Amino acid sequence: MSAPDPHARTHTLQPTLIWDLPIRLFHWVLAGSFALAWITAEADEWLAVHVFCGYLMLGLVAFRLLWGVVGSHFARFTSFWFSPKQAIHYLKEVASGQAARHIGHNPTGSWAIYILLTLTLVVSASGWITLGADEQQGLAAGWFSFSQAKLFKEVHEIVATLMLVVVGGHIAGVVVESVMHKENLARSMVTGLKMADENTPRTSAQKLVAVVLLLAMLGFGGWWFAYAVDRQLDGQAWHATSESGEAEELHVAFVGKALPDNAVWREECGSCHGAFHPSLLPARSWQKMMAEQDRHFGSDLGLDAPTTAAVLAFMVDNAAEGHATEAAYKIEQSIAKEAAPQRITETPYWIRKHREVAAADWANPMVKSQANCAACHLDADAGTFEDGAMQIPQAPASPASR
Ligand code: HEC
Ligand code: HEC
Repeated sequence: MSAPDPHARTHTLQPTLIWDLPIRLFHWVLAGSFALAWITAEADEWLAVHVFCGYLMLGLVAFRLLWGVVGSHFARFTSFWFSPKQAIHYLKEVASGQAARHIGHNPTGSWAIYILLTLTLVVSASGWITLGADEQQGLAAGWFSFSQAKLFKEVHEIVATLMLVVVGGHIAGVVVESVMHKENLARSMVTGLKMADENTPRTSAQKLVAVVLLLAMLGFGGWWFAYAVDRQLDGQAWHATSESGEAEELHVAFVGKALPDNAVWREECGSCHGAFHPSLLPARSWQKMMAEQDRHFGSDLGLDAPTTAAVLAFMVDNAAEGHATEAAYKIEQSIAKEAAPQRITETPYWIRKHREVAAADWANPMVKSQANCAACHLDADAGTFEDGAMQIPQAPASPASR
């Protein structure tokens, strides 16, 4: 543990529990979920995990606010309630190398905590609204349009970056303080122990509150992942569950609303390749494609006029302009007004989204063609292309190398 202190008052100092267990768990789980949320922020297929981290952080802040009232002495806000003036004063003391040691949070550290708690709240809330607008998922689905999502997403990203900066400051503060007072503060956030004398204040925590909250969070997490994993295992469930029209649509596994379907279209357009849902291209693309159906990528589809008209009517009614999904909205936005692309895989949005897919994954015999959407998108058949429904198939070599 700590090295013996050469000063005379050594014998009065002993390892004392300063940070109670819930505070330590809170601290490290928050740090972990923040890190995990950063790592998963850019990868669509990890959105379910990213969102879970967000909900977890929201729950953690709620817990911390409560624990600041009913926790043990050093967890309570009353034990680290400092004015901004005191925080700045302490910073000056640190700069001059003679800051007093605080058993609990020091004035500057306390402000880092207030700010981090606030930012955590804002980052989770803005993420939650972004999820509702950009993905039309979660409880905020339907509140805002795809076009408004951009603003919320920007706020979400700016606040997250700000949070990273404050976390950096917090870590720097811990390092400086640890060196200055020759004690490992990071370790004391693991063990909960700091060297303190008998006069250190004690207030016991309302343990029952902690137990109830912990069980609630574990229950939520367990349910979340059991539910999500369940969906992942059974690709067919994507369609079935969305059709049941559950009002909540649970922000788990991201199952979108079922898109319109049509038997004739599915039969005529789903025999050579998976049927590409009409929402993936604008109406003008489908009109051109059907006008040239006798020269369809080297094949003659051989459709008679009534069938052509029926298929075209369904496609025009449900084309990308209807913005039925995020993919529809973004594909449509990415295409020039006059252009009538015949390939989804040639639209700027599609190209941008797939730029980082490795050459080896395209070459995988289970994929073969870029147009084989269903190889990687579990919900390609339904046309929803949800972030959580992606799974790049393993290259066949991998079972041997495992
Ligand atoms: C006779 C077989 C056949 C049928 C039937 C057929 N297609 Fe195709 N389609 C193809 C081939 C071949 C390609 C090129 C695939 C490739 O490049 O991997 C293609 C490509 C496409 C693409 C472009 C995919 C991309 O790269 O983004 C679209 C869109 C498409 N078809 C729509 C339709 C529609 C709509 C129908 C029904 C009216 C239909 N297809 C019916 C053979 C067919
Ligand atoms: C080799 C696997 C693979 C194939 C085949 C594939 N995709 Fe993807 N797709 C991905 C990956 C991986 C991502 C996520 C990229 C990222 O994280 O930004 C993605 C992302 C997307 C997105 C964006 C989802 C979102 O909400 O952000 C859409 C839409 C999409 N794909 C449509 C298609 C369509 C349509 C096809 C077939 C024409 C297709 N993809 C074929 C792997 C694939």
